[in-house]
Amino acid sequence: MNSIIKNTFSAATILGIFSLLGLGLTSFTFHKTETKIQENERLALLTNLKAVIPESLYDNDIVNDTLEVTDLNQDSTKPAVIYRARKKGEPVAAIMTVVTPFGYSGNITLLVAVKTDGTLTGVRTIAHRETPGLGDKIEIERSDWISSFDGKSLDNPSDTQWAVKRDSGYFDQLTGATITPRAVVGAVKNALLYFKHNQARIFSTTESTPEGGN
Ligand SMILES: Cc1cc2nc3c(=O)[nH]c(=O)nc-3n(C[C@H](O)[C@H](O)[C@H](O)COP(=O)(O)O)c2cc1C
Repeated sequence: MNSIIKNTFSAATILGIFSLLGLGLTSFTFHKTETKIQENERLALLTNLKAVIPESLYDNDIVNDTLEVTDLNQDSTKPAVIYRARKKGEPVAAIMTVVTPFGYSGNITLLVAVKTDGTLTGVRTIAHRETPGLGDKIEIERSDWISSFDGKSLDNPSDTQWAVKRDSGYFDQLTGATITPRAVVGAVKNALLYFKHNQARIFSTTESTPEGGN
């Protein structure tokens, strides 16, 4: 009887030890994977930020000089992050994370970089679900269409020309896909207007702050 109890006890102990080891290993792997994902996201963000604004234009840590606003995006009050570029403490440019819901397949997320004089230094598509071979040409890896915004501003092209050619505007549509570029042109124009009207507020704080913070 005694040996039965003893055997059951040691089996339970061994099982317990293995369970704890398994648990520890799972949580270690989970933590490592999470850290890796976060690191990859940070690197992807850095690559995209570097693509929309030349590094020579600023000397601050733009990844950590951010502002969250709730009134930038069309159709959404979800906070949007704005990265602020400064040189010797002076405002140089803002890189806005813009989400438009008007894509063919829903949300398209863009990085829109605009200098304090209102000129775009670059736009990149960072997330979308548009159709491969049609709407996905808004990705720089698929075509250089997104580069057509480089150097543009609210005055160039003129206000009414901020549209795709199909709508009598300046910007090319994509072959067989007008809805996607129409959404992107609208979102970039909206971001430029937002920047024009909120520039002072955007640069008024110096640390990473949610809207209304100091
Ligand atoms: C399966 C399928 C996928 C499509 N995907 C897109 C898309 O990603 N982006 C887009 O603008 N239009 C897409 N279209 C085309 C639109 O329905 C629409 O016809 C087009 O945007 C109008 O452009 P067009 O006037 O140049 O033909 C798709 C159509 C089909 C049938």
